[in-house]
Amino acid sequence: MSISIIGRSIAVSATLLLNEKAAILRAKGEPIIHLGGGEPQSKTPIDAIISFTGLLNSGEIRYTPVDGTVEMKQAIIRYTQEYYDRKVEPENVIASSGAKQSIMVALQTILDPQDEVIFPAPYWVSYPEMVKLCGAVPVPVHPEDGSFHPRMQDIIENVTSYTKAIILNSPNNPTGVLYTEDFIKEMVEFCEKEGLYLIMDDIYSRLLFDGKRPVNCYKYAKILDENSKLIVINGVSKQYGMTGFRIGWAVASKKLISVMSNIQGHQTAGPAVLLQKAAIGAMNGVQTGVESLRLTLENNRNVMLARLKAFDGLKFTKPDGTFYVYVDFSAYDKDSARLSKFLLDKVRVLTMPGVEFGKDGYLRLSYCGGIKGITQGLERIKWALDPNSPNELYIGERKLTRDWL
Ligand SMILES: Cc1ncc(COP(=O)(O)O)c(C=O)c1O
Repeated sequence: MSISIIGRSIAVSATLLLNEKAAILRAKGEPIIHLGGGEPQSKTPIDAIISFTGLLNSGEIRYTPVDGTVEMKQAIIRYTQEYYDRKVEPENVIASSGAKQSIMVALQTILDPQDEVIFPAPYWVSYPEMVKLCGAVPVPVHPEDGSFHPRMQDIIENVTSYTKAIILNSPNNPTGVLYTEDFIKEMVEFCEKEGLYLIMDDIYSRLLFDGKRPVNCYKYAKILDENSKLIVINGVSKQYGMTGFRIGWAVASKKLISVMSNIQGHQTAGPAVLLQKAAIGAMNGVQTGVESLRLTLENNRNVMLARLKAFDGLKFTKPDGTFYVYVDFSAYDKDSARLSKFLLDKVRVLTMPGVEFGKDGYLRLSYCGGIKGITQGLERIKWALDPNSPNELYIGERKLTRDWL
């Protein structure tokens, strides 16, 4: 069978495969603990439900404009004003079916085949594949000092005449680190000077801990007119725990947004109207749910880090936000895919192999589940990896016996 070059170049997602495997095991009654998840467990905000059901009950569920309803755009404009102190117009915003689609259509709008896109490693799994879907070349940049904080020098050294764009995701999936204000400032200035697009993936920007504040890229932008090459991405998935609603957006120059709309119009057209309605409800409604999610995640992070400290040989950087911690397990196994499979097979704990995010030897652990899952999950992992553990572990009625190490 003939498959396109691009089709063949897209890697199968080990993350999705592991999720599927865990779901099948769970359906068979296996006591799976999910430390691999990418979605908060909080309930949909009540304002989103009311808004959604109001429209549903009307029975008038139709197409919407490709770039979002008027009301949706107003909610995004208000959000941008409130969280970025920036006034934009309806032509500067597009709502998509998830932030993922906003990023994808942005890349399709700006990239030609062979163009290069730089992003710091570790990175969100989809960036390289999205760039490849455009026929372009992903250029992950590993900070030279081995930290999760890229330095300007690391980025500059990778810029070539083919570089078209840079993507920054802060706080970052999978490390949870917030890039410094100085770094963002320098990046904005550098991209303006070099005429590069800068895509700021701010999807986790309201989920920060320890009193940290998100860095507002617009504060450092000098080009704020039609020539701006800044593209800011956000969505309802993480901050409102509304992953299933698939609403995200981009804020950019009018020209970029109009081309993005053209492209989106031939893909999915406007995001589903009911889902836009729910997103509007959440964005314009009471915001206490976001703060309570943030507090829960901060507490979960503290519990997870305290447990991780009990392991010998693990290294990690304290996350500033998100719901992930990226842990160096190389003292136990340098092959993260093998280690992740081992933990699922032996103790039924799902973790994400670090190699998927650009750094092997690491596992991404999520703390968006409950405290019980975090503590039991880490207990099982410790039991599986620590040669001094007792020979047996009980999971409910089930007795596990170590037949390894
Ligand atoms: C860094 C990052 N950007 C974008 C997204 C996509 O979000 P959405 O659910 O709005 O498509 C995710 C989801 O995991 C993410 O981690």
